[in-house]
Amino acid sequence: MKALILVGGFGTRLRPLTLSFPKPLVDFANKPMILHQIEALKDAGVTEVVLAINYQPEVMLNFLRDFETKLNIKITCSQETEPMGTGGPLALARDKLIDGSGEPFFVLNSDVICEFPLKQMISFHKQHKGEASIMVTKVDEPSKYGVVVLDEDTGLVQRFFEKPNTFVGNKINAGIYLLNPSTLDRIELRPTSIEKEVFPSMAAEEQLFAMVLPGFWMDIGQPKDYITGLRLYLDFLRRIFSEKLAAGNYVLGNVIVEETARIGEGCLIGPDVSIGQGCVIEDGVRLSRCTIMRGSRIKKHACISGSIVGWHSTVGQWARVDNMTILGEDVHVSDEIYTNGGVVLPHKEIKSSILKPEIVM
Ligand code: GDD
Ligand code: MG
Repeated sequence: MKALILVGGFGTRLRPLTLSFPKPLVDFANKPMILHQIEALKDAGVTEVVLAINYQPEVMLNFLRDFETKLNIKITCSQETEPMGTGGPLALARDKLIDGSGEPFFVLNSDVICEFPLKQMISFHKQHKGEASIMVTKVDEPSKYGVVVLDEDTGLVQRFFEKPNTFVGNKINAGIYLLNPSTLDRIELRPTSIEKEVFPSMAAEEQLFAMVLPGFWMDIGQPKDYITGLRLYLDFLRRIFSEKLAAGNYVLGNVIVEETARIGEGCLIGPDVSIGQGCVIEDGVRLSRCTIMRGSRIKKHACISGSIVGWHSTVGQWARVDNMTILGEDVHVSDEIYTNGGVVLPHKEIKSSILKPEIVM
């Protein structure tokens, strides 16, 4: 079985992290986002993943080469010369997706995280006779997504509206599809949106079915949603794989600590924290609702909350990093500094406090 992951887009909403790595390679819960997806696809029986990319394919492929062997899955690339949207890349990868077996293939947006019940999706797809299945989930703020109106009994999609201005329902497209090869006959080889140009007409022809996604879901392509997504993901780990969570008297709630990270004396860490590979958390540090990425050092008595610390950064002694501060790669916050929100571009030194959210170039 094959799968295509829509990897394009510049990830502007996740800057400054995406200034260092393409969005799918940004770590989430100590693992690049895309690995969560590739592992789930492998578990569901996928043997080849096609990455639909429109920039920096070498970066992605070099990075993923090791995982091809480790996971025993083939990873190839379909490169656009201009951004083809969310539909065009499928037409471009047509020859890679169709192998004559007639089997359906998965398509994933690269920035969604959930429990990936892909085997259940395969059963759902087999049981209705439509051409395509999509996963839907309930959200509080549907207007920034694709809204799906469906028959609750059969899953038949009646209408699909991408980012509607008025309220039409609270079930939204979760960005995970299982498509029969015939779907590709509906997509032209040009920049096009599958949500605006393909799904609405499939719904009109009663060929599109939606399965309500069990468990949590989040599009983690924006800092605030990334932090919320981490909370939901760790909560899921607590229920299913609680042995992966950190335990000890310094831990409060759900926390993951990569095994090579070191935690000092007298720290209080949690809830909803991930600490990446090789990080050093010195004595007396307080962390809550935050991600500390690979290779970072948090010095004594610093306090970080609701923020993301990018790769190989340092936060000084007694510093306070707060309120959705996003530090890019290799940022150094001096001792006793306060940051109240703000986005700090890679390789910067912060020597005076950031009192209100701003971009530090
Ligand atoms: N190859 C390629 N080329 N991929 C692209 C391009 C492109 O030109 N443009 C966007 N993508 C990829 C993005 O990297 C992402 O993985 C996916 O397509 C969706 O694009 P986003 O920019 O993240 O869209 P969105 O979040 O506003 O909306 C989409 O996702 C929602 C769920 O998170 C839509 O599919 C909505 O209907 C859906 O509800
Ligand atoms: Mg998105």
